[in-house]
Amino acid sequence: MNLIIRKTAEEAAVWAAHYIAMRIREKAERTDKPFVLGLPTGSTPIGTYQELIRMFKAGEISFKNVITFNMDEYVGLPETHPESYHSFMLRNFFYHVDVPWDNIHILNGNAADLEKECADYEQAITEAGGIDLFLGGIGEDGHIAFNEPFSSLVSRTRVVTLTHDTRVVNSRFFAGDVNQVPKQALTVGVATILGAKEVVILGFGEKKAAAVKAGVEGAYSHTITFSALQAHEYGTVVLDEPAASRLSSETVRYFREVEEANAR
Ligand code: GLP
Repeated sequence: MNLIIRKTAEEAAVWAAHYIAMRIREKAERTDKPFVLGLPTGSTPIGTYQELIRMFKAGEISFKNVITFNMDEYVGLPETHPESYHSFMLRNFFYHVDVPWDNIHILNGNAADLEKECADYEQAITEAGGIDLFLGGIGEDGHIAFNEPFSSLVSRTRVVTLTHDTRVVNSRFFAGDVNQVPKQALTVGVATILGAKEVVILGFGEKKAAAVKAGVEGAYSHTITFSALQAHEYGTVVLDEPAASRLSSETVRYFREVEEANAR
């Protein structure tokens, strides 16, 4: 695992955007094959999306040869609902860049056969050649995508039931009313994320500090599904200082030394 800590969320978000852009350019130099990018929703990735949009508008990056797969979507929420992850992605990213519409994949939480939808999604990822880089966030309870505590660490794309805690946290997008937050979602599994060639997880703010500590310094455990990143060869966690505030000073010092050594 690699750990990058920046003073503010803005700096950390920009770091992640530049890292993704670098990976897209690197692959384009090697091959004509598309870059396959896994994407999250939530407040955390917004700064990274904004920097990628700025880079696109400045002519520094193009997404013409990028295929995207989003992590998750609520079950039963109309796609046009402002809080659906379809709406979120259009508003915060896809309307502003040049990812071809046909290259965008988001799970359909209104599919007649949800299990088929999940199986087809896994198949589409395989057919695209696998995910090159999966970007993600962390829930306050340590979940990645919608892999709530006790999700199997070898899980694949499937229908899940959200925890009450997650619905309370996400009720801020539903006028503070937990009853309006869907009870179920479709999500890529932990193993779907770990199947990516590289995984970059963002964690910003004091609210994530406990989950970050558990996932980085604690045991590999289904109680904190983010901890599964420990079993990935190329996993990077990008934090601001508040999210890193509960890590031990030895952990922080070690990763600062690694970053300095890598920069040489
Ligand atoms: C939701 C999403 C996760 C996201 C998490 C954190 O549960 N399914 O993918 O990481 O929220 O959201 P935020 O970035 O708003 O804190």
